[in-house]
Amino acid sequence: MTTTTVDPVVALSGVTRDFGSGPVVRDLDLDVRRGEFLALLGPSGCGKTTLLRMIAGYLEPTAGELRINGVDASRTPVRRRNIGMVFQSYALFPHMTVAGNVGFGLTMRKVGRGERERRVREALELVGLGHLADRRPAQLSGGQQQRVALARAVVLRPDVLLLDEPLSNLDAQLRVQLRDELARVQRETGLTTVLVTHDQEEALAVADRIVLLHGGRIAQEGTPREVFERPRTRFVAEFLGYRNVLELPGRGEVAIRPEHVRVHAATCPESASDTSAEVLTGTMRSATYRGTFSTATALVALGGGQVELHGVTAGPEPAPGDPVRVELPAAAIVPLHPDQEDPR
Ligand SMILES: Nc1ncnc2c1ncn2[C@@H]1O[C@H](COP(=O)(O)OP(=O)(O)O)[C@@H](O)[C@H]1O
Ligand SMILES: [Mg+2]
Repeated sequence: MTTTTVDPVVALSGVTRDFGSGPVVRDLDLDVRRGEFLALLGPSGCGKTTLLRMIAGYLEPTAGELRINGVDASRTPVRRRNIGMVFQSYALFPHMTVAGNVGFGLTMRKVGRGERERRVREALELVGLGHLADRRPAQLSGGQQQRVALARAVVLRPDVLLLDEPLSNLDAQLRVQLRDELARVQRETGLTTVLVTHDQEEALAVADRIVLLHGGRIAQEGTPREVFERPRTRFVAEFLGYRNVLELPGRGEVAIRPEHVRVHAATCPESASDTSAEVLTGTMRSATYRGTFSTATALVALGGGQVELHGVTAGPEPAPGDPVRVELPAAAIVPLHPDQEDPR
């Protein structure tokens, strides 16, 4: 092949992977653009790791084409691909120092000592660990070990940096801290990065673009804002926390986030501020105090049946059994499209 297209960095076309009991990645087309921070998001088992391992070269696709920098890489082994990888487990060499771990890949690539030491120092500075170069992994916290793993990947100046749930082993506070650091490191290095995560908040916070997987296929892709504010299908909406999916007369199937649904006591005067809101009537089920607001569940009459809606209380809190008025602001109502059929 003489094709030398430089963009995109990774191009998957019709990629399928089957372990013998049906495809777990299915006929997938995906480009990873140069310099972007892409998040592969989806529930456990949707094929994220399988996809990442094919890009890294640990797994061959059953069918389809995989190009890296325009060159067919489907049969190129891991060591011949210029890929940096960080896993959930830090996987550091315990007998080596931090600097030794970070420099190991450069030694393998026969990078001379002077350049190696300089690049290791730079990579450790980048992740804020310049002062710990001589420690061993066992002397570091989990967060520090994961920073070493990141430095070890970044130091290779990989064509693409692949991160498989790198923050999942860390406690909540550290996870947020390291997440922000990941975003900074990506910005400063400009490395093309693919982050695999099942955590929507993580994906929203760091990614330029989100690809949401469902059953080995792309359910939706777009900027964090596009995906979060305009989920196309029921699956995407529910995955992103749209607790209310309902058939609205005249609008078809729609989704709305609970924080946008306002539950009023029926006796409260109607607000004139949002005349385009859909207004439903029903009965209060329960309320839960959440500090700055209360969540409420109400049973409303809809299309000849009854539907449970989740919202927040507005004004005096209705008691269970009280009649309520439930307002759905028009701007927060997202029309849904039918899910693509699942052939499995
Ligand atoms: N080596 C393997 N052999 C057989 N099945 C596998 C293998 N690796 C993954 N799978 C299956 O493929 C599906 C997708 O797995 P995976 O890519 O790890 O999902 P995710 O990373 O999104 O949680 C799962 O059903 C998993 O059991
Ligand atoms: Mg996984």
